[in-house]
Amino acid sequence: MTIIELKNVKKVYNDTVHALKEVDLKVEEGDIYGIIGYSGAGKSTLIRLLNGLETATEGEVIVLGEDFGKINNEKRRIKRQSIGMIFQHFNLLWSRTVAENIAFPLEILGIPKEERQERVDELVKLVGLEDRKDNYPSQLSGGQKQRVGIARALAGNPKILLCDEATSALDPETTADVLELISEIHKKTNITVVLITHEMHVVKTLCTKVAVIDGGMIVEEGLVSDVFYSPQQEITKRFLKQTEFSSEKSANKNIELWKESFVNGKLVKLLFDDKRFNEPLVSKLSKEYGVTINIIQGKIDKTQTGNIGTLYVQLVGEDTNIGNVISKLNEEKVSVEVL
Ligand SMILES: Nc1ncnc2c1ncn2[C@@H]1O[C@H](COP(=O)(O)OP(=O)(O)OP(=O)(O)O)[C@@H](O)[C@H]1O
Ligand SMILES: [Mg+2]
Repeated sequence: MTIIELKNVKKVYNDTVHALKEVDLKVEEGDIYGIIGYSGAGKSTLIRLLNGLETATEGEVIVLGEDFGKINNEKRRIKRQSIGMIFQHFNLLWSRTVAENIAFPLEILGIPKEERQERVDELVKLVGLEDRKDNYPSQLSGGQKQRVGIARALAGNPKILLCDEATSALDPETTADVLELISEIHKKTNITVVLITHEMHVVKTLCTKVAVIDGGMIVEEGLVSDVFYSPQQEITKRFLKQTEFSSEKSANKNIELWKESFVNGKLVKLLFDDKRFNEPLVSKLSKEYGVTINIIQGKIDKTQTGNIGTLYVQLVGEDTNIGNVISKLNEEKVSVEVL
């Protein structure tokens, strides 16, 4: 079931800033949908449209069956209760304890005290903060604060969870913990998640689908494994480079070093998808064409929708034979990049 649909959406601020131009997007129930883009691409604008904080200048923003632009304030308020949101800087109330922060949306909903306390107890358990219930946000680590944010977002049993750079303020290890928590919650509840980030590893770890947004437009989208395997746009390739090594700089440095050490033949990067992992394709081609294949480095990237293998290899042999191996690999849908 489609739970969110954007049709031809435009958002213009102050008649001059075209933050979103012609955005079409479909999110199915149970998706963990990542939206990735550089600063200023329009990500936050998009997410604010999804929870009705902003209205589209043009087009339709259909969330849970109704266009946000066509409903009255009362209906909009009710719809927003089905949508939880977490933020980069947590947006907690500093003068309230963990339990009181989580209870806050329930108070607004007018839930009686006893029921509220029961729900808060469930939620602190869900996010692993049972022993921190009475602490204030200032007494918590960043990861714990975001856990409070998540518990508060889930208090009203929303159908959709929106995350705007929810891990950008956290260190890598804490980021991994928070992503794991969101993944667990998704498994338990099948909540639909839309997550905004500028980090590809967040998409890789957590998401089932991804859209790349650039200059207010979605330039590429699809299953995470498909986009990882065959990115179409330059910008997508640049984002994928983030996950290859710790940085693009060190990736290039490694390749430069290899070029110096492996002077014969050709240095190539191979990209495989799930379906080819079990085929002894490389050794078969090696025998068939008399080309020595020297594996320099390899890894497997696990995504939520399939695995992608990367191999850096040196091909040594006659030029024509190397050429044949490369075209055979291409025929077998292994992507080959000569370095
Ligand atoms: N309330 C606003 N009024 C005017 N312009 C705005 C407003 N909000 C955003 N913009 C502009 O719209 C464009 C997109 O901004 P947006 O915040 O959606 O980008 P973003 O992708 O979330 O960036 P970041 O990664 O830095 O958070 C930018 O040019 C921004 O300056
Ligand atoms: Mg933003």
